Amino acid sequence: MKKRDFISLLDYSSDELKAMMKLAHEMKAKPDDYTDALRGQILGMIFQKNSTRTRLSFQAGIHQLGGTGFFLSSNDLQLARGETISDTANVLSRYVNAIMIRAMYHNDVEQLAKYASVPVINGLTDYNHPCQVMADMQTIQEKFGHNVEGLKLCYLGDSNNMTVSLICMCAHFGMNMSIVSPEKYALKDQDVIKTKALKIRGDMKLVFTDNVQEGVDGAHVIYTDTWTSMGMEGDRDQKLKDLDYYRVNKKVMGYADSDAIFMHCLPAHRGEEVSPDVIDGSQSVIFDEAENRMHAQKAIMYTLMKN
Ligand code: CP
Ligand code: NVA
Repeated sequence: MKKRDFISLLDYSSDELKAMMKLAHEMKAKPDDYTDALRGQILGMIFQKNSTRTRLSFQAGIHQLGGTGFFLSSNDLQLARGETISDTANVLSRYVNAIMIRAMYHNDVEQLAKYASVPVINGLTDYNHPCQVMADMQTIQEKFGHNVEGLKLCYLGDSNNMTVSLICMCAHFGMNMSIVSPEKYALKDQDVIKTKALKIRGDMKLVFTDNVQEGVDGAHVIYTDTWTSMGMEGDRDQKLKDLDYYRVNKKVMGYADSDAIFMHCLPAHRGEEVSPDVIDGSQSVIFDEAENRMHAQKAIMYTLMKN
């Protein structure tokens, strides 16, 4: 059987992702049923950027499934000294059963997947963060029930890798979405991702706006992320000024549905993209999201690695 990678939600059908999500809930509810599910299997984990959640949740997850995770800092690999991605992919494929990579550039993950004979899982690139949004969907379903069709998610701030994956998540699971950013920080290739989202679900409502009240109006999920993504630290000071108006605070939450939840993939910067009273308040589900990284990724690993 041909191996499958997990690089973008766009590579999967909605039914496949829904099946994976069902498994994530099941694995969370009955972890003891899966302690041998990937017995003896090895996950190689390459990191070209920092990580707390991705590293720990994959390491704990593969351990809970009966396997082992090897942490591979890209600085320590010969990759950092010019060994090619194709050679790295071929060699790793002889030792491990799957590779998880957090990469600087999305294209490198695609190249790795092309040359690896084992499944490759994307643990964040400059383009997207698919594992995070699987955990986010698990969290949304825990709060609102399994049928999330018609719910509205509003993302505010810097349009980035999270924005792309959230659009794909909403398209697949039947949610609508608004993205609130000033034009300078709007999503690049907005029309391209919009076309792809509408191909998944033609009746999805997907709105790009710079108007906070209009974007947040009635939303069930308010989502933000750091204004300074990894590898993009150069324009931090300018962004702090430009995005000040787009901070998620109590007033912004007030435009949302009264049962709305606040989400953030973390790491967060209190006082920048979100005010402390919101992220540490009763509507915040940030630590459920962090926990669900492990459960959702166990389902992803099992789907890709089971024999
Ligand atoms: N949300 C997330 O990916 O966190 P880390 O950068 O800590 O892995
Ligand atoms: N947009 C952030 C997400 C971190 C999990 C970054 O790329 O740094």
